[in-house]
Amino acid sequence: MITPLPVAVLVSGHGTNLQAIINEREAGKLPIAIKVVISNDSSAYALKRAEQHGIPTHCISHKKFDSREAFDSEITKALESFGVELVVLAGFNRILSSHFVKHWKFRLINIHPSLVPAFPGLHAQRQAIEYGVKIAGCSVFFVDEGVDTGPIIIQSAVPVFPDDTEDTLTARILEQEHLILPLAIYWIATDQIYQNGRHVISPKSDVPLMRDYHDR
Ligand code: GRF
Repeated sequence: MITPLPVAVLVSGHGTNLQAIINEREAGKLPIAIKVVISNDSSAYALKRAEQHGIPTHCISHKKFDSREAFDSEITKALESFGVELVVLAGFNRILSSHFVKHWKFRLINIHPSLVPAFPGLHAQRQAIEYGVKIAGCSVFFVDEGVDTGPIIIQSAVPVFPDDTEDTLTARILEQEHLILPLAIYWIATDQIYQNGRHVISPKSDVPLMRDYHDR
């Protein structure tokens, strides 16, 4: 029996990725305990999703702090008070200070709606449409001090069709996000991957691929 990994999810918006994690947890597929959901925005619908599932929530508005560092250390304080060991950024719209990133190194992951290193930062799907790429996608990675530059854990690709809009592409990518984020968390919670420089490697040969994981 694996001890559940204490996890926090940081959110700012709608929280569909949070919902995917909650669903997998409730289906008994993820050996994690979601200790707290933290948002910088009290109106984030993600907070309601957490409440509906009995998960503690905490709102820390960045507007109340003079500096990024002060805001981030308040988040760290909250995370530590809940005994968190893995921090998942799932639509969290603040850039975190390098102090925070260093503190949570190897224990901080993010999901981004592009095949990084393409289209980092805001409006990745719009950037993809405007650039004219034929393939887009999403990435989960360990956070480093750059913007969407950390070592990649998993990516998933989707086609871009000529009549796609930002909304249709966003929806297609989001479906994949909901598959790869829980899988990345599963790998971490079950000690199946580690980071070696830029490379995220599995010491085991039996790491479940997407189909194996989701068909369980
Ligand atoms: C997702 O596209 C995620 O990749 C990005 O922000 C969006 C959050 O969506 N970082 P949701 O709040 O999980 O629905």
